[in-house]
Amino acid sequence: MKNKTSSKPVVAILGATGAVGTQMLRIMEERQFEVENIKLLAHASEAGKEYIFCGKKYVVEEAKENSFDDVDITLIAVESDISRMFMPSILKNGAVAIDNSSAFRLNDDVPLVVPEVNPEDIYKHKGIIANPNCSTIIGIVAVNEIYKYAGIKRMVVSTYQAVSGAGIRGIEELKNQTIDVLNNKGAENKVFQHEIAFNIIPHIDSFEDNGYTKEEMKMYNEGRKILHDDKIGISCTCARVPVLRSHSESITIETEKELSIEKVRELLSDAKGVKLVDDPENNIYPMPIDTSGQDLIYVGRIRKDYTKENSISLWCCGDQIRKGAATNAVQIAELLVKSLRN
Ligand SMILES: NC(=O)c1ccc[n+]([C@@H]2O[C@H](COP(=O)([O-])OP(=O)(O)OC[C@H]3O[C@@H](n4cnc5c(N)ncnc54)[C@H](OP(=O)(O)O)[C@@H]3O)[C@@H](O)[C@H]2O)c1
Repeated sequence: MKNKTSSKPVVAILGATGAVGTQMLRIMEERQFEVENIKLLAHASEAGKEYIFCGKKYVVEEAKENSFDDVDITLIAVESDISRMFMPSILKNGAVAIDNSSAFRLNDDVPLVVPEVNPEDIYKHKGIIANPNCSTIIGIVAVNEIYKYAGIKRMVVSTYQAVSGAGIRGIEELKNQTIDVLNNKGAENKVFQHEIAFNIIPHIDSFEDNGYTKEEMKMYNEGRKILHDDKIGISCTCARVPVLRSHSESITIETEKELSIEKVRELLSDAKGVKLVDDPENNIYPMPIDTSGQDLIYVGRIRKDYTKENSISLWCCGDQIRKGAATNAVQIAELLVKSLRN
């Protein structure tokens, strides 16, 4: 720690007023993350806003280059360009950044960590630890035990992503458009490419030359990096749906080894970060409305894919602002503090 008299870190949240940043503060409080001090940093327009953390009032400051001088760990909850801009100031004097943006995720010297899957990678950091893409975290936590037990050759994933994946402005757009459409007024698209109210948009982030979007290729590139497996095939389609919070995913997995459905259930009932929710006869399966506001990835609708050998289909949902972003980052920070103390 920069402050040698304390074993507790000074933590900054960069983007403290956004969907992920506000959640980070709440999760640190819930998990009783001990800090020497916490700095809430955001755009100048948000300076002066007040938040309560562990019974004490903190005022948001404008993020400037010198804001990080006394900070040990910065949790980054801003877009990639802003993360890149502040990174040299954040890393000054041996501090660590845990970055939710995609700016550094695929750099060789930046570990990409899901604590339930590859916690040991944290210790390879050279200042930056990256938090993976939210859909990737949800999908990889869901299949991790299956991967470890039976190996995965290929995954075909379709995501159904909530509007809050696009931040606070995404939530506002769905709410406003829903009211406008119900009142027969024309809906205005500011955040999404098309009207999102009562619609599904099969397009998240920009298109690449191969016909996939950047968001879809994140599942492929980041999934391989987290699992340390450059043979696994991952084909993904990402869609934005008019759901406020929690992403859902349909996943079909081809395993190396044969695997019974009973074994999959057994593996998932013990899997870290997973809750098995699979009783279709009683209409019980994961839904975004049930996964919002908590950290477990719910997995259900587990069945054999009858069109292919060694193939299983499942459905999972998870709160992408919590486990897909803020909680994952705070879990990394906890491991980091533990390692600094040892
Ligand atoms: N939302 C999700 O589900 C999710 C999941 C995983 C990862 N992420 C990633 O997490 C990051 C934050 O996303 P979000 O959804 O929380 O976005 P958001 O709700 O739009 O919040 C972004 C935050 O960044 C602040 N900001 C903008 N420009 C800034 C500047 N120059 N200096 C300091 N702060 C600035 C914003 O302040 P103003 O409001 O004043 O502009 C706001 O506090 C992004 O990289 C995103 O890709 C998001």
